[in-house]
Amino acid sequence: MSSQSPASSSTGWVDVKRGLVSRDIFVSDDVWRLEMERIFDRTWIFLAHETELPQPGDFVSRNMGQAPVVVVRDGDGTIHALLNSCRHRGSRVCRADSGNARHFVCPYHGWTYERSGRLVTTTFDKHFPKEFDFSEHGLARVPRLELYKGLIFGSWAPDVVPLADYLGDIDWYIGPFLSRSPKGMEVLAPPHRWRAKANWKVGALNFVGDSQHILTTHVGPLTLDPVRAARAGFATAAENSFQVVTDQGHGCTLTYLAPGLPDDAYQTHPRDLEPLYRQTLNADQLQLLTRLRVIVGTIFPNLSFIETQVGPAQKAIIIRQWQPVSGTEMEVLSWVLAEKEASQEYKDTVLRNGFHNFGAAGVFEQDDMELWASATHASNNPISRRFPYSFHTALPYINKPEKDHKWPGRAFKPADTEVAQLEFMRHWDRWMQSN
Ligand code: FES
Ligand SMILES: [Fe+2]
Repeated sequence: MSSQSPASSSTGWVDVKRGLVSRDIFVSDDVWRLEMERIFDRTWIFLAHETELPQPGDFVSRNMGQAPVVVVRDGDGTIHALLNSCRHRGSRVCRADSGNARHFVCPYHGWTYERSGRLVTTTFDKHFPKEFDFSEHGLARVPRLELYKGLIFGSWAPDVVPLADYLGDIDWYIGPFLSRSPKGMEVLAPPHRWRAKANWKVGALNFVGDSQHILTTHVGPLTLDPVRAARAGFATAAENSFQVVTDQGHGCTLTYLAPGLPDDAYQTHPRDLEPLYRQTLNADQLQLLTRLRVIVGTIFPNLSFIETQVGPAQKAIIIRQWQPVSGTEMEVLSWVLAEKEASQEYKDTVLRNGFHNFGAAGVFEQDDMELWASATHASNNPISRRFPYSFHTALPYINKPEKDHKWPGRAFKPADTEVAQLEFMRHWDRWMQSN
């Protein structure tokens, strides 16, 4: 199987027809190792936002599956992604999360690399045989690197499909989220990072479309803030809300504000930015944003995003990565974004809202993390693993996409079923079957 497309038969872990998914794939280290090989080494993986690297020499350390990678901007503006493991004895060459560097000097024996990864000196050059070729001993480069509306993606598969094809129809929905003003979005601060005792797919599934958890998992913050709860109008909003899934395994859920709220509730975006949206988006995409309360979704495999209204013209805008660490652990990275053209005051508000709700100590975040860890713990024993997880609420709807949906992708109503989650698992299963 090439890295171009996943296979079509099943691994036995995902039974779409019966709405069942094996617990093993949420706890097993063996499955996790196979995922690294069959998914993370073959698909496009998000690395960084371009605005994290504004100056020559700026770098960030990230991971693609298990492989540590440093993403760096060179003197001519080019962005490189390099395997962060020394060609001498494998030491991590760049030890910082982020910073600015002219060269990367390995802390073990001093091999020194340019930002492009080229080996400059070993510090013991005089002892090397004459035939030693410096140009063949640079840091390994991620062979494919592409930019999409400020997002930098990399792939270890030289023959991976172009990023635009990989994203496919989801572009239509995340385009207005990632770039809706002429200058686009910027990252407002370094990402929050924390460990969660759960499999990475738990996060990816939660964001692709898990409206069912909101009123139970997050009942605490919703009860404490009745204004927010009233605005949310979850019970009635389901009527005009929907989920979208695409052939590439990506998906998102759009929840619209219920009718009958105070007028200011419908002022979802700052007024001064609206003319910029009209310059950038078409009429349909403007309609997509109108009265939108939450858009939340996942780009297969492990990049998610959420934009939620937290008050009149007040937003929390987040991109999120679920970095696999083992079968039962992930590292979460969470970035807050805002339009580059926005006022500093608005950016400060979005940053505060973003981390207040979805940072390491976010009021919504901790609700989820505790439950994800508890589900993982309670599932990770031989008896529990006999009983697959239920995705049954997808079944009455999964073969009935909205016939008159005028926008790309397959849309499903209502928004509070598990269709997008089961479609994500179907796609995961196809990749896992490839070899
Ligand atoms: S391991 Fe990097 S210089 Fe030896
Ligand atoms: Fe949640």
